[in-house]
Amino acid sequence: MSEIQSYLRSLERSRDSMRPENRPATFWLRGRQWALLDTVFAPLHAGTTEVVLDLLGLSGPVQQPRRGAFLEIGCGTGVVAVTAALAGYSRVVASDVNADAVKNAALNARRHKVTDRVHAVHSDLFEALPTGQRFDTIIWSSPYVRAPEDYRFGTLLERAYVDPGYQAHRRYVDEAPHWLNDGGRALLHFSSRGDIDGLHRIAEETGRHLQVISRHTIVDRGDTVEHMLVDIRARGESATAHTEEPLQHGLSPQPA
Ligand SMILES: C[S@@+](CC[C@H](N)C(=O)[O-])C[C@H]1O[C@@H](n2cnc3c(N)ncnc32)[C@H](O)[C@@H]1O
Repeated sequence: MSEIQSYLRSLERSRDSMRPENRPATFWLRGRQWALLDTVFAPLHAGTTEVVLDLLGLSGPVQQPRRGAFLEIGCGTGVVAVTAALAGYSRVVASDVNADAVKNAALNARRHKVTDRVHAVHSDLFEALPTGQRFDTIIWSSPYVRAPEDYRFGTLLERAYVDPGYQAHRRYVDEAPHWLNDGGRALLHFSSRGDIDGLHRIAEETGRHLQVISRHTIVDRGDTVEHMLVDIRARGESATAHTEEPLQHGLSPQPA
């Protein structure tokens, strides 16, 4: 395991983000001001929320308004879900296992006047969603660092950083495609901090096919981290027009 994949380091980042000096009541991101509640993942330190906006093409002026229904699993402060609503999605569900994140997303939906189309839901992955609901885009910016199977969370915020034994990843990869409308996309934001081979094993075992549809490399506190948007579909289903390449085991070569 490389140093950037260390779950102990990720837990340290989680503790660091809890320091009062790192938790302003509001923060600016991509030209908008956002509320931040205690125990909720703070986008201002990690840079990953902006990466997700970029990977989804939700940064800057939207060329073509988005259509349809958008589900964000693990919404945190709700930056991605609210930005999706502002970009044109007509129905947005922002859900999180952390009840404070659900409140935080609702606050930010109110702040940006999209309460008519953003619904914040307290849910462990898909568990509390009405069974008949279907979506055109589903995204989870996951806690992609793998912790040991028997690790017990010390705080709610740690759930934003690590996934013990990839138990939540297994459920997401298995269940997400079931919640799609025809032609929809189930997406996972993953990175080289995660266990890519482990994710592949989960896909094999659950009958899923993984495909990277975009990548973005950033330097995060001295670590070079490759971020990727992974499309998850049932094996044998045809790939979308957005398809780029199969998810590689290990990392893609870094530019010299
Ligand atoms: C890396 S954070 C991303 C937060 C937010 N989407 C952002 O980009 O700023 C991961 C989020 O997933 C949530 N999460 C972790 N396990 C979950 C689960 N089983 N069900 C729903 N949300 C979960 C965490 O609480 C956290 O808010």
